Amino acid sequence: MKELTFSIVKPDAMAAGTTGKILDRLLAEGFVIRGMKCMHLAAKEAEGFYAEHREKPFFPSLIRFVTEGPILVMALEKDGAVADLRKVMGATDPAEADPNTIRKLFGTSKERNAIHGSANPEDARREVAYFFAAVEIK
Ligand code: RTP
Ligand code: MG
Repeated sequence: MKELTFSIVKPDAMAAGTTGKILDRLLAEGFVIRGMKCMHLAAKEAEGFYAEHREKPFFPSLIRFVTEGPILVMALEKDGAVADLRKVMGATDPAEADPNTIRKLFGTSKERNAIHGSANPEDARREVAYFFAAVEIK
């Protein structure tokens, strides 16, 4: 069944110039871009998005990282999009990610790991709605 997931090309990949390669890979994997925009998040906006991690030791550093430069936010559609995106992204830490995953290819540390993908369908709906208006994605 066609499903939407939410993804971010994080500031490290945007700055490194690998955004095009990441998009090429997502398209080659069969994801359809249903929404896409470039944004530079304010700290409050990033804190809202990553609220589940508020108590984690890495939270302040994560907020500094995702607000350090522009990001590309995307709503991606595919059969089984949520699970498929997690698979093509690879593990959170690029050092532990499977060969040829986006994080293995383009991530440089557990924090600076190039891409975000929703963890489950409920998160995907919430995250799409956090960044896109109803008139943009139907
Ligand atoms: P994401 O939400 O970005 O798709 O990543 P994820 O599910 O694989 O990992 P999650 O546990 O949700 O962590 C969110 C992001 O926080 C940074 N992080 N840093 N230094 C650390 O130990 C650490 N752990 C996580 C990463 O940028 C991670 O993607
Ligand atoms: Mg996560």
